[in-house]
Amino acid sequence: MRALAKAQPNIALIKYWGKRDIERNLPAVGSLSITLESLWTTMSVEFLPTLEQDRFSLNGTPCDALLSRVSRCLDRVAGDARDRAAVASECNFPIAAGLASSASAFAALALAASEAAGERLDAPSLARVAGSISGSAARSVFGGFVELSAGADDIEVRSLAAPEAWPLCVVVAVTALEPKPIASGDAMIRGAQSSPFYPRWIAQQTEDLKAARAAVASHDFARLAAVAEHNCLKMHSVMWTSRPPIVYWNSVTLACMQAVRALRANGHSVFFTIDAGPQVKAVCLPEHADTVAAALGDIDGVAQILISGLGPGARLLDGG
Ligand code: DP6
Repeated sequence: MRALAKAQPNIALIKYWGKRDIERNLPAVGSLSITLESLWTTMSVEFLPTLEQDRFSLNGTPCDALLSRVSRCLDRVAGDARDRAAVASECNFPIAAGLASSASAFAALALAASEAAGERLDAPSLARVAGSISGSAARSVFGGFVELSAGADDIEVRSLAAPEAWPLCVVVAVTALEPKPIASGDAMIRGAQSSPFYPRWIAQQTEDLKAARAAVASHDFARLAAVAEHNCLKMHSVMWTSRPPIVYWNSVTLACMQAVRALRANGHSVFFTIDAGPQVKAVCLPEHADTVAAALGDIDGVAQILISGLGPGARLLDGG
C-alpha cells in the first residue's frame, strides 16, 4: 500500500541544542516551537517486495544524501526485516539551509511509513520515531505551539495551543542559500565537548521553558520576545565558543537582527530567532507582518522573503 503525508517545518522559540544520548538521539533539553503553515514537505511511501534497496527522490531527483536516514526511519516504523520502499518527497522551500527541512521531512515520513506499513502509530509514538532521526522533527508531528520534554526514558511531545489560539506570523529572511557548513547534530556534540557555556545553557533551559510557556498561555508577546531572543542568543553563544568555533551567521544575518530590534523600538511586535543557518526568522503579530517583510526585504543581501502563519501537524493526504 502507498501512503502520502504532509508536514510543515517548525521554528523553535526555546531551542533544542545538545544530546543526552547520541545513539538514541535523545535531546539534553526540552524545547518549545511553533509549526508553520505555508512551507511544507510531502512524503509518499510504498513498501514493495520486488525492490532490492530503498529508493528516495527529492523533488523528482534521486537523492542519496538523505537515503540512510530515510531507511533508518522506515526501520523504526516497520522493523528492519521489512520490504524495501520507494519514497518520494516534494518540498516547497530551500533544504539544508537552516530552514528546518529535516523537521518537516521526518515528521511526514514517519506518518506516511506508519500508514503504508499498516502500523497506524499514534502521534506521541510518531514523534518518538521522527525525533530519533532528527530531534526537531518530533515537534512537527503537532501543530501550533508545541513543547518537547526531554523525559527520563524518551521524549514526550505535546500541543500547548492550536494555531488559531494565537495566530502569530513568521517572516523568514533568507540571507544565503548554500547548504550549512556543519550539520546541527555534529555542531551540538562539539558544543557539549568544548564550549565553556554549555553547562550554563543546559542549567537555564527549564527556566526559559517555564517563561515561554507562561507567555504563550497569556498571549504576552513582549515576554515571549524577551525569552526567545535571549534563548536564541545563548544557543549561538555556545556555538561561537565551541572549539573550533561554529558561526552560522553572515553580515546580512546581523543586519536583519538589527532591523528587527529597530522595528521593535518603533512599537512593532516582532522578535527574531535564528537556527543552525544564516536565515533570520522574525516572529510577529499578523498586523505587523507586512511592515516586517518590507523592512527585511529592503536589506541588501536578503535573497528571499517567506511569510507564514501557524499551521497544523503532520497529516495524511488522499492520493497515496
Ligand atoms: C538549531 O533537529 O536538526 O534548529 O537531532 O541532530 O537532527 P538532529 O538536530 P536538529 O537540530 C535542530 C537545532 C535547531 C534548534 C531547534 O530546532 O530546536
